[in-house]
Amino acid sequence: MSQKSEFPLINGITDKLNRPVRDLRISVTDRCNFRCTYCMPAEIFGERYEFLPRPHILSFEEIERLARIFAATGVSKLRITGGEPLVRAGLPDLIATLSKIDGIDDIALTTNGYLLAKNAYALKDAGLNRITISLDSIDEDIFKKMSGRPQGPANTLEGIKVATELGFSPIKINVVVQRGVNDHTLVDTARYFKGTGAIVRFIEFMDVGTKNGWDLSQVVTSKEVIEKIGEEFTLEPVVANYAGEVASRYRYADGDGEIGVISSVSEPFCGNCTRARLSTDGKLVTCLFASGGTDLKESLRSGATDNEIAEIVGRVWTGRTDRYSDLRSKDTEFKGNATGGDKVEMYYIGG
Ligand code: GTP
Ligand code: 5AD
Ligand code: SF4
Ligand code: SF4
Repeated sequence: MSQKSEFPLINGITDKLNRPVRDLRISVTDRCNFRCTYCMPAEIFGERYEFLPRPHILSFEEIERLARIFAATGVSKLRITGGEPLVRAGLPDLIATLSKIDGIDDIALTTNGYLLAKNAYALKDAGLNRITISLDSIDEDIFKKMSGRPQGPANTLEGIKVATELGFSPIKINVVVQRGVNDHTLVDTARYFKGTGAIVRFIEFMDVGTKNGWDLSQVVTSKEVIEKIGEEFTLEPVVANYAGEVASRYRYADGDGEIGVISSVSEPFCGNCTRARLSTDGKLVTCLFASGGTDLKESLRSGATDNEIAEIVGRVWTGRTDRYSDLRSKDTEFKGNATGGDKVEMYYIGG
């Protein structure tokens, strides 16, 4: 029997702005082996920082159960994030169970790539479809500065190489662009991957969370990025792969592949936002900039049936009005969020 028919009440639900839910981003851990300055600055996330204690973290069985319920709402795409998902032991086992869920036709992983070389084969074998690797600069020193770690990009590059050889396609490389930090290395990073099949996407630095000291002056707009890379290589715009694609695509005129830009600050894409997020501790978060979410873990652990949980999910999504980036773009002083209070951190809900 198809999973969808089990929860007819939530099948195909839309929110208050008529947006369906298509994409579930699951944060499997709030821990990370990097200390990127814009996400987990080392001075705050030191040795003594207390990450979530084990009992608060969803088990693989709990994640699978929730993913099945979300598949019934219309979710067909899962993205596994963190923190750094590969620091969670046994991740391929989770992917293997998720890939068997009816209705899920795409499973992607966002990773910093440090542990990718040794995990890539098991991930492929488990049924993972796509990998996105965060790599902010090909430059040794800038990479160290931004990742907050003494190692350069060698391990991440090796991970990308192994994943490419195993046939993961397309591999995407996420570069968060910060003015005065890595903007002078964008062309070199683009050049390094040109012709390899990997798609480099340049992301505008966002005001997620409360700990990265975001300031509008540090944002390099996608327009500037395209101008800069366009001075070196001839670029041509390409139509989106699907409605609501976050990245705008450009191809190299010489046929050497494509790049993308993600304009979350200068040209927000809330109107098409079909993404739900599941935090490491089982909260359903409906916007990257929310101050919190709806606790599904308590329901899971207090004996709620799948139907009861499906009802909660349905209630939350049908009541959703989030469009934070749209609001902020109209008011650069805008500091609020959908529900008041501090914004959640990115490592806790994934990117
Ligand atoms: P695919 O199309 O499935 O490859 O994924 P994607 O393009 O959505 O890429 P990915 O999930 O890697 O997202 C890239 C980056 O875009 C994230 O790391 C965020 O920085 C940003 N982003 C993704 N989703 C959202 C969103 O819902 N809101 C905002 N403001 N930014 C987002
Ligand atoms: N602005 C833009 N992108 C960010 N990411 C993390 N923090 C930010 C931010 N403040 C990106 C990471 C990774 C993904 C999970 O989100 O680089 O690619
Ligand atoms: Fe870790 Fe990714 Fe955050 Fe960097 S951006 S600290 S790699 S979770
Ligand atoms: Fe979606 Fe919120 Fe991002 Fe807008 S700001 S695209 S509503 S996650």
